[in-house]
Amino acid sequence: MNNNSILALILAAGKGTRMRSQQPKVLQPLGGKSIVSHLLDTLYSIDVARIALIYGYQGKLMKSILEPQYPQLEWVEQAEQLGTGHAVLQALPLLQEDGMTLILLGDGPLLRAQTIQKLLIQAQQSGAALLTARFDNPFGYGRIIRDVNNRVIEIVEEKDCDAQQRSICEVNVGVMAVSNQLLRQHLPNIQNNNAQQEYYLTDLIQLLHQAGQGTSAVVVDDITEVNGINDRIQLAQAEAIYRARQAQNLLESGVTLIDPMRIDVHGELTVGHDVLIEPNVMFKGRVSLGSGVIIESGCVLVDCEIADGVVIHAQSIVENARIDEDVHVGPFARIRPKTHLCEGSRVGNFVEIKASVVGKGSKVNHLSYIGNATLGANVNIGAGTITCNYDGARKWQTVIADDVFIGSNSALVAPVSIGVGATVGAGSVLTKDVEAQALAFTRAPLKIKPSWQRPKK
Ligand code: UD1
Ligand code: CA
Repeated sequence: MNNNSILALILAAGKGTRMRSQQPKVLQPLGGKSIVSHLLDTLYSIDVARIALIYGYQGKLMKSILEPQYPQLEWVEQAEQLGTGHAVLQALPLLQEDGMTLILLGDGPLLRAQTIQKLLIQAQQSGAALLTARFDNPFGYGRIIRDVNNRVIEIVEEKDCDAQQRSICEVNVGVMAVSNQLLRQHLPNIQNNNAQQEYYLTDLIQLLHQAGQGTSAVVVDDITEVNGINDRIQLAQAEAIYRARQAQNLLESGVTLIDPMRIDVHGELTVGHDVLIEPNVMFKGRVSLGSGVIIESGCVLVDCEIADGVVIHAQSIVENARIDEDVHVGPFARIRPKTHLCEGSRVGNFVEIKASVVGKGSKVNHLSYIGNATLGANVNIGAGTITCNYDGARKWQTVIADDVFIGSNSALVAPVSIGVGATVGAGSVLTKDVEAQALAFTRAPLKIKPSWQRPKK
């Protein structure tokens, strides 16, 4: 379907009082981005002609966060939040003569693109279409009133329902598509004589009905798409739905998840075949995993590229790094930004690596800090080795050539370079470059006093 005559309007001016937050509701985080970004991304994916956001509460903050991410987004201010109908009224000047307006609530982020498409097709046939859902517990939602012929004639808000209406389980989920002509004609007639003294957008349905214009209803199949988020409980529920969806996608694409309820994908995760992910792993940003990769429990992976056959052992953190084939990392390792671990290298427990290259087959297996360093191939870094890369003002480089062996507990004071095949003795403090094949060590003299008595209390 061609959506180039569609204007999408997202209502997001409210404070979201029930959230008990200083932030506008639609900026609350869900699945690693703001609530409203989910909706925006979905709408951009179906190529509607224009998207406008109705904003009000903390407009400056909203703009500062969303404008850089969505430069095409149009902004319409609703200075006072007098209701959802009043919100749409602010956008009337944006409407073209013909075409259709798709209205969505900013607090319903999990709507799928195909559901929106279905609604738009209906609306293009009938002039007005409404998305509804059947909830076991419809509390808080506007109820859908149908006539004896099953046509939708009205929406009654929870607070305005009588007992009979309250027992209706079909609800308004806050998404409708209406032709611009109908909207322009009827929207200004909405009144605020109701329990909340607000101008309800939902009253449009009754006005259309009274004018002989029907509204077709599209009932959603999957009610998890349309839960509104009003408080932190619903926010947590939405997060669980989002998590389950991501897990389902991964399972469908052939990933083994030991526990699909305990994985969080906040961003984009791409995977090869036969990947195994243990519980409590979190992915953020863009992460790609090659085939046969194993991610053990408790890892956090942020913006990184991980090649085939890599194993990230438990409780490791990898951020903004490239990890080549068959590398093993962790447990308890921290790989910081701008790190490249080359094929077959090993980074063991309690090792931190930052802005460094670890060459093919090289090992940093225990308790080390490697920062601003380049390690060649087949280097062995002994336990407790530290690159002293910072002099209090600037960062300096350490260069370690192929086949170097660094004894345990050495301090490499940068800038320093160590030539091919050189050996550094344990406990050395290296302040000068070491030539290829040399042995370098510092030794404080060892003193032994026989039969020495410790002081007594
Ligand atoms: C609304 C619907 C209800 C529906 C439910 C679905 C109305 C009157 N009610 O109720 O039928 O079942 O959503 O989740 O439409 N907003 C503005 N300006 C305003 C008021 C609200 O922009 O003046 C925005 C809010 O920021 C929010 C959205 O509209 O993002 C919905 O408002 P909210 O107060 O949450 O409506 P509900 O009471 O949930
Ligand atoms: Ca709501």
